[in-house]
Amino acid sequence: MMKGLKKWRLFSLLAVMTVFLAACGEEHLSTLKPSGAVGKEQLNLLLLTTVIMTIVVIIVSVIYLLAFVKFRRSRVGEDVMPKQVEGSHTLEVIWTVIPIILLIIISVPVLTATYKFADVAAMEEVDENGEKTALTVNVTAKLYWWEFEYPNQGIVTAQELVVPTDEKVYFNLIAADVKHSFWIPAVGGKMDTNVENINKFYLQFDKESKDLKEGVFFGKCAELCGPSHALMDFKVKALEPEAFKAWVAAMQATEGNTASAESSDLGEAMFANSCLGCHAISGTGVSGAFGPNLTTFGDRNRVAGFMAHTVEDTVEWIMNPEPNKPGNLMTGKYNVTEAEAQAIAEYLMTLSVEK
Ligand code: CUA
Repeated sequence: MMKGLKKWRLFSLLAVMTVFLAACGEEHLSTLKPSGAVGKEQLNLLLLTTVIMTIVVIIVSVIYLLAFVKFRRSRVGEDVMPKQVEGSHTLEVIWTVIPIILLIIISVPVLTATYKFADVAAMEEVDENGEKTALTVNVTAKLYWWEFEYPNQGIVTAQELVVPTDEKVYFNLIAADVKHSFWIPAVGGKMDTNVENINKFYLQFDKESKDLKEGVFFGKCAELCGPSHALMDFKVKALEPEAFKAWVAAMQATEGNTASAESSDLGEAMFANSCLGCHAISGTGVSGAFGPNLTTFGDRNRVAGFMAHTVEDTVEWIMNPEPNKPGNLMTGKYNVTEAEAQAIAEYLMTLSVEK
């Protein structure tokens, strides 16, 4: 009975794991299918250590089973005293030297890679005009959203990070309130965003995101930060270099964009009255806004990081932020009717630098 129960448990565990692991390998989300040099190297380190550990487990298991089967009392007799090997010099040397060799095989590439990924010296390099040559993004994590500032381009965006392919993108990571962690599983990472210091690292994006199932890479907060931690998602658009340049130019061209409370468009007028105080709709500027910059709202993949990018879900988000994303800082900052929320949502969908 007990044995049957245990078997049943094992089978259900395997079934559950099959369901979970079936999701592994999604290119926009999976560490196991990296789309960047950093992620690929990290995966190789993971494979190296896994292979070594597996070999050790197999060898130890085989020795254990052999001893278990070969030296049973029923086989060797009741009165047999096996050869005593306590203090054996040879054995001591073997099980000291082998682990040392294995640790060297693991630690040399791991340490080399760790130092390489932390090498951000290029962030300080300048060209003959004194302009920084490396693309740098200042990431600020906030409850529960992400701000992305491009200091050398003079632009700022939120929730969707836009990057060029085939070049190192350097990140300054910081948090505005509590500790979060910046993670793009399919590209590499992760790294904590702290309140008290700036962490730096770089990533490389080898694949345009438009070919992915969702058209974007998924980004995550990887540090428990509050009730909506699991909803603190962002997306990453990787564009080929020319398209990235065009995006930057389009963002810079939104300088001065604003909404008018006198507009004949009810959505724009309502937005100016209720939302503009926290949400900028110009892509130029610096980080530090109270609410996410909405200049590219119409180009986004999700609303609030995780809801469907539809007018309907935008209305739901505007009307009921608290139940959808508990603990967010938008709750209670404004008061609009459903019809006004509808107009605002329709207006927001027109905000775009890509269309
Ligand atoms: Cu921010 Cu978890």
